Amino acid sequence: MTIRLGGIIFGLGLTAVLLLWSLLPGALNFAFPEKPDYYAFQEKNISPEGGFSFEGPMGNWDTQQLQRGYQVYKEVCSACHSLQYVAFRNLEDLGYSEAEVRAEAASWMVPGIDDKDGSAIERPGIPTDYFPAPYANDVEARAFNNNAIPPDLSLITKARKDGVNYVYSLMQGYNEPDPADVAKSPDFETPPGLYFNEYFYNINIAMPPQLLPDIVTYADGTEATTEQMSADVTAFLTWAGEPSLIQRKQTGFFVIAFLLFATGLGFLSYKSVWAGMKPKKK
Ligand code: HEC
Repeated sequence: MTIRLGGIIFGLGLTAVLLLWSLLPGALNFAFPEKPDYYAFQEKNISPEGGFSFEGPMGNWDTQQLQRGYQVYKEVCSACHSLQYVAFRNLEDLGYSEAEVRAEAASWMVPGIDDKDGSAIERPGIPTDYFPAPYANDVEARAFNNNAIPPDLSLITKARKDGVNYVYSLMQGYNEPDPADVAKSPDFETPPGLYFNEYFYNINIAMPPQLLPDIVTYADGTEATTEQMSADVTAFLTWAGEPSLIQRKQTGFFVIAFLLFATGLGFLSYKSVWAGMKPKKK
């Protein structure tokens, strides 16, 4: 009996140690937050009030928002940024029908070849095409953008720390440097051709401010404020980077539920298998 009790206490102790061990890094991180050293100015990104609809364990895409974000990408960002890992057919995820996707694809010109002589031409897109790149090559991209290359946006929310909030913040981070800072250090002076952005890692970005109010007219009538467009395009780019985000969360739920069920079943069968046995008397 005492041996059995000892075993249980030992087991509980071991579980407690393991649990503490697994929680310790998180707790330490919470108590002493790590300072990111590459945000020259803003240490913390901003996020929309109430967060994004796809965040949290029960999150879901807001398809209206994804459609608005797509509109912003198409009408604004696509002038400089490619989206090379997304195909037009993927737009069905945003709630467009097959016919709408076909029409949408056809509204873009993609590189093709001439049937007769094989020369390079542009043709309207079809659903299996991928989003075309705005520049022929990096040299052209640099030539148009003050020697900076606008990165592909397919995976941008994953390629930056806290990427979702980062993109949201970056779109709204255009500002003027504080004159007091400029007086203190010439580093705060914005070089010609660059723009001061508090969230960019070296505060001077080659991308001009993009989301000026009403630069797009939303098809669904939503007011196109800078904040609204930033949130919408960020949601769209998050989807582009991980279209299966919601599915992954839902699968996770199912798996946890199943594991709980299996644990219950395991416990009951243990009870039934050992039902006839009496603990050995010492
Ligand atoms: C006129 C061209 C142009 C347009 C339009 C444009 N960008 Fe950019 N973007 C750039 C350039 C150039 C860079 C590279 C900046 C640098 O390295 O200094 C960039 C960089 C970025 C980055 C990466 C920043 C980083 O951390 O490296 C993001 C994110 C971004 N743009 C998002 C957008 C979004 C979203 C839109 C549409 C709302 C957009 N851009 C429209 C030119 C553009």
